[in-house]
Amino acid sequence: MLEKKIHNCILEIINEREEKVKSSEEDSFGNDFLGLLLKAHHDNSDSQTISVDDLVEECKTFYFAGQETTNTLLGWTVFLLAIHIDWQEEVRKEVLNLFGRENPNPDSIAKLKLMGMVFNESMRLYPPVIGFERKVEREVRVGELILPANLNLIFSTLALHHDPHIWGEDVNQFKPERFSERVSEATKINSTAFFPFGMGPRNCVWSNFVGFLEQKTQQNERERSLNWCGLNTLVHYRHSI
Ligand code: HEM
Repeated sequence: MLEKKIHNCILEIINEREEKVKSSEEDSFGNDFLGLLLKAHHDNSDSQTISVDDLVEECKTFYFAGQETTNTLLGWTVFLLAIHIDWQEEVRKEVLNLFGRENPNPDSIAKLKLMGMVFNESMRLYPPVIGFERKVEREVRVGELILPANLNLIFSTLALHHDPHIWGEDVNQFKPERFSERVSEATKINSTAFFPFGMGPRNCVWSNFVGFLEQKTQQNERERSLNWCGLNTLVHYRHSI
């Protein structure tokens, strides 16, 4: 029932876009993600064509993979900044220094170093995706281990992000300064121990910097317009691992 509703809801958006082109109100499907998918759907060369069902599935994947994760990150970041007023002030200063009252632009947003550190620390403490799975396709040796085919492996982001051997005894404290150098410096002994976006060829499509810009832009708006206070009495909520 719910699945059908979601399917129809996306179809409506698709139809609306197609109608605009059919009635010549618009001369293309658009350059955004949906526009590119619609172009592929209407492409006459077989290798490029995707079915309407695939198109809807792609939209669902992007929506669900992107919505909850981003909300979670922004929610925890606001919370952490609310209880760490010193960092809140530092980040606000950074934003005001770079943009003043101007709108953020992609070039200067890349210079938001402190904000990037805060996001990393927020995703370390409260990773929006707490783990992911891989299935072993055929027997493979990994170091001293032999992994048989069809084995399901679970990688716990939450566990590794809270391992004191990797991060130190202050592992449960909010310390964005860990990320003041490259991420591999923060993890000391294991450069792959920080993986909020997963790992390997199927990692998050949004993990590159361009995707991260959006988050920084949103946080930026909040930094300039709000003061989070009155939460000094709160302490970190700790996940049970
Ligand atoms: C803070 C925000 C986000 C976090 C922490 C996050 C995290 C992740 C993780 C852990 C995976 C699984 C990776 C793996 O199996 O190795 C993933 C996959 C994916 N994410 Fe994200 N994500 C975020 C935002 C987004 C956004 C905004 C989008 C879309 C605009 C998105 C699209 C996807 C897609 C399409 C996949 C599947 C990739 C594939 O299977 O090839 N994510 N994400």
